[in-house]
Amino acid sequence: MKRSYSAAFLAFGMLASYAAYAAAPAVTNAIKARQASYKEIGGAFKSINDELKSGAPDMNSVKPLARDIAARAALLPKYFPKGSGPEAGLKTRAKPEIWKDNAAFVKLQGDMITAARALDAAAASGNAAGLSAARNTLGGTCKSCHDRFRAEL
Ligand code: HEC
Repeated sequence: MKRSYSAAFLAFGMLASYAAYAAAPAVTNAIKARQASYKEIGGAFKSINDELKSGAPDMNSVKPLARDIAARAALLPKYFPKGSGPEAGLKTRAKPEIWKDNAAFVKLQGDMITAARALDAAAASGNAAGLSAARNTLGGTCKSCHDRFRAEL
């Protein structure tokens, strides 16, 4: 009796470690995808800020950048599967709170998507004041999420 119990326990342990092994590539891909995407978003957002600083933003430069941010923001929620926090053992600044307070994190992702769409619309309309306001709103969502859910370097 004791023996079959430990055999079952061993089988479970093997299954669990197999599951962890099998999940690794998906987790690795998700972490890489979100980091690459945030990096692109960060670069595009900086370029839009630089255009605004110039006083007369070149809307032809801004439009594709804003479009790219909006498209990337919409995909980001896919790149935070369970197990892709620090426990993955890979280089990531995603805090465990993302999965502990998941509703708050998902809400901030939604805020970012909405604000990025508004930035895209403002860029398309070509109005600099509107673009500046949309930039401020979007920038607020980056900060709110980073303050709470992104670890310091
Ligand atoms: C809903 C939460 C959330 C929002 C909103 C958010 N970020 Fe992040 N960001 C993160 C997390 C979490 C990481 C760390 C990801 C990792 O290391 O796995 C990150 C990482 C980054 C990085 C570093 C990427 C790298 O590894 O090189 C940059 C740059 C960045 N974000 C820019 C932005 C900008 C710009 C915005 C707003 C336009 C934004 N983020 C909005 C959560 C968010």
